[in-house]
Amino acid sequence: MEIIVCKDYQTLGAKAATMFASQVLKKPDSVLGFATGSSPLSTYAHMAKLCDEGVADFSRASTYNLDEYYGMGPTQEQSYRKFMNDNLFTRINIKLENTHVLNGLTDDPERECAEYEAAINAAGGIDMQLLGIGHDGHIGFNEPCDEFPNNTHLVTLVPMTLQANARFFNSVDEVPRQALSMGIGTIMRAREIVMVVNGADKAETVRKMVYGPVTPQLPASILQFHPRVTVFLDEAAASRL
Ligand code: GLP
Repeated sequence: MEIIVCKDYQTLGAKAATMFASQVLKKPDSVLGFATGSSPLSTYAHMAKLCDEGVADFSRASTYNLDEYYGMGPTQEQSYRKFMNDNLFTRINIKLENTHVLNGLTDDPERECAEYEAAINAAGGIDMQLLGIGHDGHIGFNEPCDEFPNNTHLVTLVPMTLQANARFFNSVDEVPRQALSMGIGTIMRAREIVMVVNGADKAETVRKMVYGPVTPQLPASILQFHPRVTVFLDEAAASRL
C-alpha cells in the first residue's frame, strides 16, 4: 500500500486525477471503477480539467460504479447515477452509454447484482478502481460484518452510514435503508486501486485501515492484501499515521 500525503484536498484530487489520466493514456479502452461521496469531488473536478486541457481522453473508456441506493431511480436528486452524471460523466468526454451504475429500481436485486458482476467480468475486469472510505471503514457499501462479501450484493446500511449520508437528504429518515454494492471480492479483483481520503474525522479510520488487523469488521483493512493500492490523504486524514 503506497500512502501519499498531500497538503490539501485540492492537491489530493489533482494527484488522484492524474492516475486516471495516465491509465487511459496507457490503455485508452480502460475499464474504470468510480465512487461517490464527497471525497472524490476534487478528483472529478481535476479529471474534467485534464480533459478540457486535452491531457486526458476518456472517449474509449468504460466505467462501473461501486454502488447505488436500493429503491432510488437515476433521475432522483440523491441517486448515485445522478451524482456521477452531474459531477463527472457530463464533464469529461466519456460516452454515457459506456458508463454503468447499478439499477436501484430493479425488482430483482439478486439478478441485477449477478448481471452487474458478469458485465464487469465480460468487460475484462476493472483496470483502476477509485475508492473513498466510510467512517466505519466501509468501501462501496460493504459495511462491517463477520465475513468479507465476495460479489455484488444487496446490503443493509448501518446507523452510522445512514447518519453520515443524511447530509445529502432532508433528514436521516429519507436515507434509503438498503443499497446495491460491489462486493469486497469485486473491488479486490480490480488490477489497481486509488483511494482518496480527506479530513480529520477519517484519521482514526485510516490508521486502522493501514496498521490494524485485516478484518471484515473494518472492510477497508483488506486493502493491505492488494498488490497495487495508492492512498492519497490530506494532512488531516494522515494525522494519526
Ligand atoms: C458512501 C459511499 C462510499 C463512500 C462513503 C464516504 O457510503 N457508498 O463509497 O466512500 O460514502 O463518503 P464521503 O466521501 O462523503 O465521506
